[in-house]
Amino acid sequence: MTKMTAPAVLAAKGTRKLAMLTAYDFAAARLAEAAGLDMLLVGDSLAMVVLGHEDTLSVTMDEMLHHTKAVSRGAQRALVVADMPFLSYQVSVPQAVANAGRFLKEGRAGAVKLEGGREVLPQVRAIVAAGIPVIGHVGLTPQHVAALGGFKVQSKTAEAAAKLLGDALALAEAGCFAIVLECIPAPVAAEVTRRLPVPTIGIGAGPDCDGQVLVFHDVLGLYDRFLPKFVKRYANLGEQVVEALTQWGDAVRTGAFPGPEHVFSMAPDAQAAFLSHIASGPSTDSSDDGNT
Ligand code: KIV
Repeated sequence: MTKMTAPAVLAAKGTRKLAMLTAYDFAAARLAEAAGLDMLLVGDSLAMVVLGHEDTLSVTMDEMLHHTKAVSRGAQRALVVADMPFLSYQVSVPQAVANAGRFLKEGRAGAVKLEGGREVLPQVRAIVAAGIPVIGHVGLTPQHVAALGGFKVQSKTAEAAAKLLGDALALAEAGCFAIVLECIPAPVAAEVTRRLPVPTIGIGAGPDCDGQVLVFHDVLGLYDRFLPKFVKRYANLGEQVVEALTQWGDAVRTGAFPGPEHVFSMAPDAQAAFLSHIASGPSTDSSDDGNT
């Protein structure tokens, strides 16, 4: 088992495609790990698919750290990448370095990701200089949802596409070891991928990227509020979960659960002694053998 690291991701460029999936807890990390995925992104999409917010703006550093710790405990080979939440890196360069550092020091992630183009180069340079691997993210950057006016496809004009290419090249030059391209036309992503020295990881950016990333809940059919066009569902676990929980609820109501195989028995003489003991009144002895 070769551990995935930032240099290993970089070395994959041009040799093989990279599979990255979001993960937000220990159980999901173990499942993604068992599937042999390369990178687990503790995305700020946590805000939407786990915490129920309408966008990604409200999730905090502490919430992101809490989930990063859980994912890191479940990951062995995969590289854990923590997403820097809104306003954890935009306010100042020292704050960006301190927050990025917390994801490695406390969260045990192997890298961080942050959104933005040339405007975040000072942060990227400083974080990389502190020894923290960084993934960039351009195109649709959900932390700019208010300024963008919604979750919309980006870089549809020649000027916007050329600006995105310039941003991506500048991020790679500043030290990013990979760049996420979100929701941009496939020909733009293909050209960026061809010109960039680091891997591109696409989401809604077509087949020519060096890798792909999707949200765990989207791939598995666990989030039904909104399904972007670029998502392919590989399972409908949400429906299966509702079916299983309905069966369990019915079994509880009818008394079919728990069955004899789910209960703990008591030796007949102990049971008889217990009944005779309480026949003389409730006990004041609070000791318990603690066995379950
Ligand atoms: O937060 C997230 O899930 C992301 C991916 C969609 C790239 O940033």
